[in-house]
Amino acid sequence: MTIHETIKEVQEQFKDVLKNARDPLMLEEVKNTFLGRKGKIAGFFSMIGEVPPDTRKEVGKMLNELKRSLNEQLELRYAEFQSEKKQKERVDYTLPGYVVHKGSRHPLTQAVDDMLSIFKRLGFDIAYGPEVETDWFNFESLNFPPNHPARDMQDTFYTEGGGLLRTHTSPVQTRYMAIHEPPVRIVAPGRVYRNEAISARSYCLFHQIEGLYIDTDISFADLKGTIELFCRMYYGKDVKIKFRTSYFPFTEPSAEIDVSCFLCKGKGCRVCKNTGWLEIMGCGMVDPNVLKVINYDTEKYTGYAFGLGVERMVMMRLGINDIRILFENDVEFLRQF
Ligand code: DAH
Repeated sequence: MTIHETIKEVQEQFKDVLKNARDPLMLEEVKNTFLGRKGKIAGFFSMIGEVPPDTRKEVGKMLNELKRSLNEQLELRYAEFQSEKKQKERVDYTLPGYVVHKGSRHPLTQAVDDMLSIFKRLGFDIAYGPEVETDWFNFESLNFPPNHPARDMQDTFYTEGGGLLRTHTSPVQTRYMAIHEPPVRIVAPGRVYRNEAISARSYCLFHQIEGLYIDTDISFADLKGTIELFCRMYYGKDVKIKFRTSYFPFTEPSAEIDVSCFLCKGKGCRVCKNTGWLEIMGCGMVDPNVLKVINYDTEKYTGYAFGLGVERMVMMRLGINDIRILFENDVEFLRQF
């Protein structure tokens, strides 16, 4: 192979590897292979002694030219990488930023947390009970007569083992009293289940907060004062409340509580169906039969209980007219809170 051919071949090789170098690091390698101290070109220079003396000068010139040309091509490629990098780094600071969606608590969880923190400030402990209950705790301990309609298969989900899904949080009352001596002052939040036709107003599952206060000398006035305070803390200081007589097997006397509509301040609107009032809970003085069941001294102790429906209160507060939306986990809906 003549020196001309060799030089040509090296040039071809160089072009090839240069083309395949995808980043400055690979370029560095190419540089070492060809132009480094122990590189190909250096090898040629070291062999120059073997060239016949009369052509040595010319070969030296050619090698120098080759070295210069390779260096030049390398520099050009470096420059290309440099400008590509700049291109990539160019940022348009006027573009709007990416929206990062933060997760948030479900409106029902928020409402329960808010209510519990109010009850805690009013001196209530928090208690929990199981969602799969026995007939005894769910009904019998709460003074339900044997043929009470609430026991009907239509309302209650029964489990295979003879248990049931609790239909209200009231069984936490007797569960708690069975293992605690009075005084007792608790609220018990949780899910309850009813086998009802699903509609805009009722769902097979919802949340309640149960309240129970047993001590010596507890009267209906204590119940009234506590509920009034709770409503003012939750709805604002201008809220009014009203007790309507009602019936529950486990309380005597029993009442249902209405609050003045916080939206229209009692003037009448869509949320309160133009009545100015919203029903929020059932309550009453604990029936002595319930206290007897768990061996509390009914001569000494009296108390009150209440149970509120969380969904109802959340729907009223947020102006939601279909309960199902609270259980669908529709991200578009939840993002609003
Ligand atoms: N457990 C009742 C229900 O689910 C609500 C209730 C009413 C709870 C009166 C109480 C109460 O503690 O005293 O319909």
